[in-house]
Amino acid sequence: MGTKGIEIVDMDVKQLIQLLNKAFSDEWLAYYQYWIGAKVVKGPMKDAVIAELTQHASDELRHADMLATRIIQLGGIPVSKPEEWYKLSNCGYDAPDNPFVTSILDQNIAGEQCAIATYKALVNATMGKDPVTYNIALQILQDEVEHEEDLQAELEDLQTLLTVPGK
Ligand SMILES: [Fe+2]
Ligand SMILES: [Fe+2]
Repeated sequence: MGTKGIEIVDMDVKQLIQLLNKAFSDEWLAYYQYWIGAKVVKGPMKDAVIAELTQHASDELRHADMLATRIIQLGGIPVSKPEEWYKLSNCGYDAPDNPFVTSILDQNIAGEQCAIATYKALVNATMGKDPVTYNIALQILQDEVEHEEDLQAELEDLQTLLTVPGK
């Protein structure tokens, strides 16, 4: 007799599904924050920033897809109502009310730092208990670390540009 995929999970599956749905909610909010940020952003190096934000938006959507697939494999249901995203989210949503490039970058850097903490916790919670979810959380964590680095690099370039020489 074969082993059902779910039988390899050595932790409370309901609790795990809840953690995954919380991260799933974060990803949709992050996706939208990047997507709308790319539409409204203004200021120097706008085109480079738009390219970065658009790339990140598509990565967050891919993360949402990875999490939804795992939730379904575990017998759960991915959050089906957008209003639940706000309630379940770890990192929330920061509207780009100030569309200046540095403000948008600062908001998204804070979002990535929260995402890194979320996936670090998920990696720790699943380590040695659910190798499949662990692997997904680790892959996403690596992406979020890269996102944060990319945004910091963009911000540094901008600060160099915005600093008046000799002052
Ligand atoms: Fe993500
Ligand atoms: Fe990210």
